[in-house]
Amino acid sequence: MTIQSLSAAADGLYVAWSDGNTTTYPTIWLRDNCPSGFHPQTHERVLDLLALDVSPILSGAQLGEGNVTLRYADGHISNIPVKLLHDHRPGQRAHDPAAIQPQLWRAEMTASSLPRHGAAEILAQDQSLQSWMQETARYGIAMIDQLENRTSAGTDVAKRIGFLRKTNFGTTFEVVNKPDPNNLAYTSVALPLHTDLPNQEVPPGYQFLHCLANEATGGGSIFADGFAMAEDLRSEDPEAFQLLCDVPIPFRFSDQTADIRVYEPVITLDNAGAVVEIRYNAHLAGVFDMPSEVMADYYRAYRAFMAKTRDPKYRLTLRLQAGEMVVFDNRRVLHGRDAFDPSTGFRHLHGCYVDRGEFTSRLRLLAT
Ligand code: OGA
Ligand code: ZN
Repeated sequence: MTIQSLSAAADGLYVAWSDGNTTTYPTIWLRDNCPSGFHPQTHERVLDLLALDVSPILSGAQLGEGNVTLRYADGHISNIPVKLLHDHRPGQRAHDPAAIQPQLWRAEMTASSLPRHGAAEILAQDQSLQSWMQETARYGIAMIDQLENRTSAGTDVAKRIGFLRKTNFGTTFEVVNKPDPNNLAYTSVALPLHTDLPNQEVPPGYQFLHCLANEATGGGSIFADGFAMAEDLRSEDPEAFQLLCDVPIPFRFSDQTADIRVYEPVITLDNAGAVVEIRYNAHLAGVFDMPSEVMADYYRAYRAFMAKTRDPKYRLTLRLQAGEMVVFDNRRVLHGRDAFDPSTGFRHLHGCYVDRGEFTSRLRLLAT
């Protein structure tokens, strides 16, 4: 984008762009973002904002080759690249290659339409890594297949993104029917749709479940797009939706070594009102203790969301095969499984998590 014309006033720079748009940059912003105020290697801001006058005065502006030279009343001169001005127009969020719009899905998503990617390609090529990650971000879920038959084959793929999120269950975890379990996942019972670790201050982002064996009767997998359920609730029952956004509820997990609790809402919105997180786990919800005037309405709202987790309209069912790994955004897509009969065969999933921050960082690096 090129600049058609510019003019300086004491309190700001006015830019007319060649596409017909105009932008005003307050003088304090121009001083705060003058390239001279940033470390040349680390690109961190070293300028002390409080060392500036609260209302610096712009006294002149001149358009050069790819940059704008600005003069201020205190004698300071800024050379600001046109690209910087265009990339950071006030009132407009800077472009972010990791800001991928969620595409909501309901029961039309099936085991055969689920995005599928080969492990070998992801391990070998950045382009395959990028297209898999972009799809996973869009749908909140994707399948990886043709993993080697070794425990670390799934974590090797996860580590292509970044480091793993450690939790009280370890850096990786084994989903098998265990003696003396500290988690229902480590039994053979059915797990209704849930998100993992809603009792954490920040629940783990992307979850990886690598299937090493699934030979028992039962043990099918279930998924649902929590954002789609929340959006439908928003339009069908706005009051219930609002209560699920506004009222924090207790989530807790405890065993011999941990007692981890938070109060958080089931649905979290961003500043623009978009759904950005679902925390839902009937087993880890604590004892509700909101004021009794709110409680009956809250239960009604909570049950309305819960009913959606049972509604086939939202369900994706599939049966994981050895050598497959399902990857999903644990803060968006709910997961569960059918009960299985451990006397009929072995079932073993090897799991790990990578947080959203590592995921979006890798997406941005892959885009450059
Ligand atoms: C879990 C879980 C699903 C399964 O480990 O958190 O939900 O299929 N497991 O066993
Ligand atoms: Zn789980």
